Amino acid sequence: MFQIKNKDNLGRTGILKTKHGIVKTPALMPVIHPGKQSINVKDLGAEIVITNAYIIYKNQDLREKASENGVHDLINFDGPVMTDSGSFQLSEYGDIDINNQEVIEFQELIGTDIGTSLDIPTPPYVTRTKAERELKITLERAKESLEYRKEILLNSVVQGSTFPDLRSHCADELGKMDFDLHPIGAVVPLMESYRYKDLVDVVIASVSHLPESRPRHLMGAGHPMIFALAVAMGCDLFDSAAYILYAEDDRLLSTRGTYKLENLQEMPCSCQICSQYTPQDLRQMKKEERKKLIAQHNLNVSFAEIRLIKQAIVEGSLMELVEQRCRAHPRLLEAYRQLGNYLDVMERYDPISKKSAFFYTGPESLKRVEVYRHLEKLNQIPKKSRLLLLPSFRKPYHKYIPENLGGFYKIGSSNKKGNEDLQVMVVDVPFGLIPLELDEVYPLAQNESPNIIDEDARQFVRDLIEEVVEDYEEVLISSQINETFDLGLLDYVEPDSLKIKMDDQTKIMAVADYQFGEGAGAALFEGNIKVERSRKTGKIRHIYYDNDLIATMRASDSYFVLSKEGARRLHSRTEYPRNRVVVNADSEPYAQEGKSIFAKFVIECDKNIRANEEVLIVNEKDELLAFGKSLLNYEEIMDFNVGQAIKTRKGGM
Ligand code: GUN
Ligand code: ZN
Repeated sequence: MFQIKNKDNLGRTGILKTKHGIVKTPALMPVIHPGKQSINVKDLGAEIVITNAYIIYKNQDLREKASENGVHDLINFDGPVMTDSGSFQLSEYGDIDINNQEVIEFQELIGTDIGTSLDIPTPPYVTRTKAERELKITLERAKESLEYRKEILLNSVVQGSTFPDLRSHCADELGKMDFDLHPIGAVVPLMESYRYKDLVDVVIASVSHLPESRPRHLMGAGHPMIFALAVAMGCDLFDSAAYILYAEDDRLLSTRGTYKLENLQEMPCSCQICSQYTPQDLRQMKKEERKKLIAQHNLNVSFAEIRLIKQAIVEGSLMELVEQRCRAHPRLLEAYRQLGNYLDVMERYDPISKKSAFFYTGPESLKRVEVYRHLEKLNQIPKKSRLLLLPSFRKPYHKYIPENLGGFYKIGSSNKKGNEDLQVMVVDVPFGLIPLELDEVYPLAQNESPNIIDEDARQFVRDLIEEVVEDYEEVLISSQINETFDLGLLDYVEPDSLKIKMDDQTKIMAVADYQFGEGAGAALFEGNIKVERSRKTGKIRHIYYDNDLIATMRASDSYFVLSKEGARRLHSRTEYPRNRVVVNADSEPYAQEGKSIFAKFVIECDKNIRANEEVLIVNEKDELLAFGKSLLNYEEIMDFNVGQAIKTRKGGM
């Protein structure tokens, strides 16, 4: 019932199928108060709404109407409806008169699309004993709710207070059971007190242990300021009571924060309300009328933000949006910095290539997946005995290396001379050290950073150089680098007769190793290789062995797209399961025909596969069937049972 369409970091766009239609995610579900609703949220862009089954149950009139005509009729919304269970009322008032079985059966009776069991919202910062005790009940009720469920999709809420290990444990346990969606609960107090850093810990601890194939709902998150960050952490659904609660208090939502009507001289956005009225107009209105208009503005900005986020995921610019949004409040910036401590989790989900360039928007950008991943890959490159570090001029670096390289500082020494056993790297922000052979590969060429370098970036580069120097017998560092990054080097040597040259063979082998792992370059391009360049751009285009095409270097990111011959070479010269996706016998003929591979047909795959990676498609005997582009990472491919996993390029091997 859920499929991923596009990915960026832990964020995803997707579609969620329900009996009352399809929802595009990330989605915001306006909270509808049964019996009180005065705003038509569908007209403002709502694809799905949430209401409260307990409130309906408690009111005899509403209960009768809902029992007879269903919840959709009751709230006058013909799209998908989610219902909450009364747990929140339980946490607010300490007691409610409905039990778990009754609330599930009632949600079945009123025909909700997505129902919720009666979890215990354990607040933040309680004792561990209390958190554990309540979590046990939440898990028991979750399990029990599956027995009462007949038709509806079922939510199961992750609890565990502010103990990350309890959140992860809860997510693990719920993940084993047959639920459809997972709200992350009891986070409202964290958001109300601006404890966004702790929210990051709670959400990552939960999301990183939930099944990839189920949508996650950040319960009670309705302020658009937080949406981008939450989506980047893997949340797919939000619910907003904020739009109406804030309107009640004459407060206007914005991605920059909240505005009080009394302080406004100008309306804060360009929605139809803000274009049509002035703050003065609103202040002079009757309370009810004003509330309705402010609520409409609040929903307008919230939906606009959701649309912007979806577009950013498609483009691969979600993190640039997050970096902008997190500058709205120091507590949000702190949260974004905290997210930088989860690079190992994020790296697994972030696609290896994106449509957008990487923009450095401040020191936090140094803690982005792209930088972390590059440095990990850099560590795996076989070491030569000598290293030459050049300053950056223009990209692609190899095109703009000056004739005269100027003077150098020297660390260590080697008896090798000239270009012998020499690795050339360019020093630049934010990727630190870029081997010259890789200077056109995503994102090492597709990035922008300010030419005035901040102190954090300088320190980052200094640390990196200090570390890399250990790996070489001799390191030559351009005097310009010494100046720009305040390296404080002393051992100056006059310019050598160095001629930087880069032959095609070295370059294509380095790119293949960077893309497919060590040894791939040799597997693909050993022997009598012919390189053909684009007549228009002069860039490497096609690589042949005799007259057989092996691979094409894609202009946009300089990664290789294999040909049949290339796929055969990579397959025959690398070991199972490397770069491989294994499909079952049923889907073998489809793969052979070049049809795309659905996730449910994949029985095993290389754990290192990331989204947007070129992969080999094999059967259980490791016979090559086809090759294509992975749309998901390893965990997602294995967890999903619907939707495409691999876009096949060619079959019939
Ligand atoms: N609404 C806001 N937080 C929660 C929660 O933790 N559980 C449920 N069921 N609803 C909520
Ligand atoms: Zn507006």
